[in-house]
Amino acid sequence: MPDYLIAPSILSADFACLGEEVDNVIASGADIVHFDVMDNHYVPNLTIGPLVCEALRKHGVTAAIDVHLMVKPVDHIIPDFARAGASYITFHPEASDHIDRSLSLIRESGCRSGLVFNPATPLSHLDYVLDKVDMILLMSVNPGFGGQSFIPSTLDKLRQVRRIIDESGRDIRLEVDGGVKVDNIAEIAAAGADTFVAGSGVFGFSSGSDDNRYDSIVARFRQELAKVGSC
Ligand code: DX5
Ligand code: ZN
Repeated sequence: MPDYLIAPSILSADFACLGEEVDNVIASGADIVHFDVMDNHYVPNLTIGPLVCEALRKHGVTAAIDVHLMVKPVDHIIPDFARAGASYITFHPEASDHIDRSLSLIRESGCRSGLVFNPATPLSHLDYVLDKVDMILLMSVNPGFGGQSFIPSTLDKLRQVRRIIDESGRDIRLEVDGGVKVDNIAEIAAAGADTFVAGSGVFGFSSGSDDNRYDSIVARFRQELAKVGSC
């Protein structure tokens, strides 16, 4: 079975107690923290920046933090997020005038780099930079908001990217973001994804209390993933 990673998007967490929310979801078995950065310019919403990333590190979060930049321009904020403790930094090619430079800057800053593809963004942006990406993130909704429905054409796009990665022989994660739920995660994994962002699909299903609050929802995701390839 591939090394599947579950990446709850804190966009749907309770921001009034964000540190505890992250602690709880990681204690429940999630792998990495998906951190959505929106600027009310590249996308029509405004969220959180490097100060909040740094606050999570100071709070004691040790899990990888997967910073998804939905900002334009991107370069200025990359070193700030690296200093704030980001592990991955991904950005949208439309938001950078110099994609190769932005990818290099992420790695030079000590982070793993990635490109994000909106539903209508062509994969050709990968053509000359595959050696500079550690992660490819396919948006399965249009970026800006949590709680939207998964766009089915993402499945074909995932299969295409899986082929590109496998043929390259490179160690590149294939992440999917938007509308990932218990009832579709297996199909998404079968199409080739190995890293699953879920916001409302995780934080909308709290049960129990404190550090076992998200146990059952993370376990249900894992059960679905365990079915992939076994039939
Ligand atoms: C949307 C964000 C997503 C969002 C996903 O622009 O990039 O990470 O939180 O939310 P759900 O899982 O609710 O679709
Ligand atoms: Zn995201």
